[in-house]
Amino acid sequence: MNILMAASECVPFVKVGGLADVVGALPKYLAKIGHDVRIILPKYRKIDGKKYDLRALPYRLQVKVGSDIERFRIKYCVTEDNVTVYFIENMRFFDRPDVYGADGSDYGDNRERYIFFCRAVLESLKALMFRPDIIHCHDWQTGLIPAYLKTNLRNDGFFWNTSSVYTIHNIAYQGGFDADTVVEAGFSWEDFTVDKLEFYNTLNFMKCAIALSDAVSTVSPTYALEIKEFNGRGMEIVLNSRKEDIYGILNGIDYDYWNPKTDPFISKNYSPSDLAGKKICKAELQKLCGFEAREDAYLFGCVSRLDNQKGFDIIIDALYSLSRQNMQFVILGSGDPYIKRLLQEAAYKLKGKAAVFFDYNEPLAHKIYAGSDAYMMPSRFEPCGLSQMIALKYGSIPIVNRAGGLSDTVEYYNHYSKKGNGFVFNITYGENFVQTILKSEKIFRDKANWNILMQNSFACDFSWNKSVESYVKMYSDVIEKKRRELLFAR
Ligand code: ADP
Ligand code: GLC
Repeated sequence: MNILMAASECVPFVKVGGLADVVGALPKYLAKIGHDVRIILPKYRKIDGKKYDLRALPYRLQVKVGSDIERFRIKYCVTEDNVTVYFIENMRFFDRPDVYGADGSDYGDNRERYIFFCRAVLESLKALMFRPDIIHCHDWQTGLIPAYLKTNLRNDGFFWNTSSVYTIHNIAYQGGFDADTVVEAGFSWEDFTVDKLEFYNTLNFMKCAIALSDAVSTVSPTYALEIKEFNGRGMEIVLNSRKEDIYGILNGIDYDYWNPKTDPFISKNYSPSDLAGKKICKAELQKLCGFEAREDAYLFGCVSRLDNQKGFDIIIDALYSLSRQNMQFVILGSGDPYIKRLLQEAAYKLKGKAAVFFDYNEPLAHKIYAGSDAYMMPSRFEPCGLSQMIALKYGSIPIVNRAGGLSDTVEYYNHYSKKGNGFVFNITYGENFVQTILKSEKIFRDKANWNILMQNSFACDFSWNKSVESYVKMYSDVIEKKRRELLFAR
């Protein structure tokens, strides 16, 4: 199959959250099984052209955004896994310090930025003469691509064999804008109907994609159920109108990259059969945080976007409630300035017990996964969550709220049956994070049980090899549907 991944983030080039990990890894695993997969991204300033040896194609293209003509170039590189990555370069929209916004607020012209990107992606395909069987779009920033294919471009022969699939990584970010976006994006008012572009008299990028792509997926089976039933942020009816075409596919982890045996960022490598290195990683992390380097201190890590989604109110509460215990807490995060202020205050009051780092810091993230005993993730909702899967690989035991992908990946450790890989509580049933931490501490202090729990955690397999098969199945279903449609159209 020929597949184009269109997204707004991708490792190693640019990352804000887990979306980047997925867009970086999925193509690599699809390419491994023989598909021609290419990726297309905005060329943000953050993407270092020299480091990745980006080359420019020898032509300039243009698309319309509102009444403006926006010119752009395509740059490209080929990764070591043989995946071609295209970058849309336009100074006005992407040559700025950040990806989505600054100081906790979105850029005021994100609507125009991603209208531009969606149009530029489709225009680029023609220039590149690349006719994908599937355009796989991710999150709201690419949501208009399926919409253009089913409206303005429906009679364009170039795209006759092209289907689109759309993956929802987080339904909380929908890209909802005023109805005049119809004009700005160059659609016709005729298509501003409830089955196509209209959403309560607005134009919502995500709604357009759910309604008009050929299949929709989201990043865990439980989240797929949740968003249809009660957590769809207003999108429940639209989702249910497509319920036959919705797939819940659990994300994977790229174990070539996330592996304590080979990780170049951690103080000492280790493996399930030799955990000496993990002790060194813990001691180094304690030093870095200004904590006492005690092996018996129960050390918790957290690496996260600072966002209400992630349950920071619950974490901050726990920091204060547990301050007298033999426990230590380290948090690395960037995002919401209000959460940052509360964490700063907690770290100041709980010096020696809690340390916070406000940064996007890849090496430190690895050190935290490797050095911590347990990993805090009391997310109020979580489409999939990669952090808990990474933590499991590093033997940092996740303590999570039962939500979305966390329910699909973490199972309460039962010290009778010796089954389970972490600790789970349920906010909806009034269960409590602090109590769950205290229960987990009993296991932590019982070394025989803790060792079994750690081995269970190392044994989890969330590799991409499994999830990739589900994606291929979804692509094949869509291609088959298209083939039948074309057959009937004759
Ligand atoms: P989300 O996509 O909602 O942010 P995930 O758990 O799916 O949550 O993915 C988060 C990813 O981003 C993980 O790879 C995590 O290690 C990484 N990450 C989050 N915040 C930071 C940070 N401040 N520094 C380094 N890595 C981070
Ligand atoms: C989103 C979700 C997260 C998911 C990630 C990758 O950012 O918040 O749960 O793991 O996308 O799909």
